[in-house]
Amino acid sequence: MIPVPFFDLTRQYATMEKEVLDAALPLFKSQQFILGPAVSEFESQFASTFGLSRAVGVSSGTDALVLSLIASGLLPGQGVLVPSFTFFASASAISLAGGVPVFLDVEPSSFLLTPEILDRFLREETRPGPGDRPLTRHGNHPLAGVMAVHLYGQMVDMEGLYRVARSHGLWIVEDACQSVGARHADRPPGLFSNAAAYSFFPTKNLGGAGDGGMVTTENPAFAEHLLRLRVHGSRKRYEHEEMGYNARLDALQARVLSVKLPRLGEWTERRRELARRYNEAFRDLPGVIPPVSLPECFHVYHQYTLRIEGEGRRDALRNLLSERGIGTEVYYPIPLHRQEAFAALLPGTPPLPISERLSREVISLPVFPELFDNEQERVIDAVRAFVGR
Ligand SMILES: Cc1ncc(COP(=O)(O)O)c(C=O)c1O
Repeated sequence: MIPVPFFDLTRQYATMEKEVLDAALPLFKSQQFILGPAVSEFESQFASTFGLSRAVGVSSGTDALVLSLIASGLLPGQGVLVPSFTFFASASAISLAGGVPVFLDVEPSSFLLTPEILDRFLREETRPGPGDRPLTRHGNHPLAGVMAVHLYGQMVDMEGLYRVARSHGLWIVEDACQSVGARHADRPPGLFSNAAAYSFFPTKNLGGAGDGGMVTTENPAFAEHLLRLRVHGSRKRYEHEEMGYNARLDALQARVLSVKLPRLGEWTERRRELARRYNEAFRDLPGVIPPVSLPECFHVYHQYTLRIEGEGRRDALRNLLSERGIGTEVYYPIPLHRQEAFAALLPGTPPLPISERLSREVISLPVFPELFDNEQERVIDAVRAFVGR
């Protein structure tokens, strides 16, 4: 039996090996591996591809989030609202930047935070603090901002979220690590927030040859601050205006990503085509809930994630697919408010039943652009066989 991989990076590389190596070679010849034109050219290319003002290359998606939070003015002990159903780094970045994650639930059909969920929390779970800042009901951490996570390739309604956040004096940072190329109401991440953070981890829709990340912002002063933060708090050599990090995007990564970015549109279309076929095939299967693409969203399907209803049924499907050689993943099996690393926050966290349920129900199927049609058909046949269709 030939396996169907959950993901296979070697297939994409085979289609562009010469271009990637040709782009990287001059750096080896010049030995200019840190910043320089490779990084600044890729930053301009990235910003102009999505019609954005500024892009600042950093060393990972996690660092993109941490630096964006610091540049937003997050102070030690301030709370940042973040969905519990996401990758660890969406919330660990808040702790690493000195803040306190305050976990929210998500809307189950899209897996996303919505303006309604944020609004309800801010009305019911907070009370006014000193000045006109609200306090969370637990731990008395004054709230400073919101981390909006565009999970699996689909954007949160940012205009709606911004309206709610602003009315409570909160800023927003966007975690767009899974959503390069996504849009809501034809707008990319980064327009209704301080900044949007991207990851170029190799398996992302736009993946490098190692770790890498990007922050986009429409605020020139914010971009200048990020440029300092990524180089030890310094713009002029050996003059340090503030505490900073070593968090630069590698020149080598920038070159590789420059070659790959023009192909992102075509890869995204293929992901969307695969998702359409899955949606069609799974439309009426009992206990199998396909992901909902919201009306105004251009979903880039970083993941194609089903919900399987019924105790133990998700794991049973996963076993059946595995027996047929089909790779799957569970993103994410433990909601963040249940992670040991955040155990100290749990006593004050309100119940988050949707995040808990999703972590038991979700299963992601192969959806990478180089997946063959006949491989997808095997996945579809196996899921249908599981429900006896
Ligand atoms: C939602 C989300 N946030 C943050 C990150 C962190 O990105 P990185 O691995 O580049 O640090 C990732 C990916 O790993 C992610 O999927």
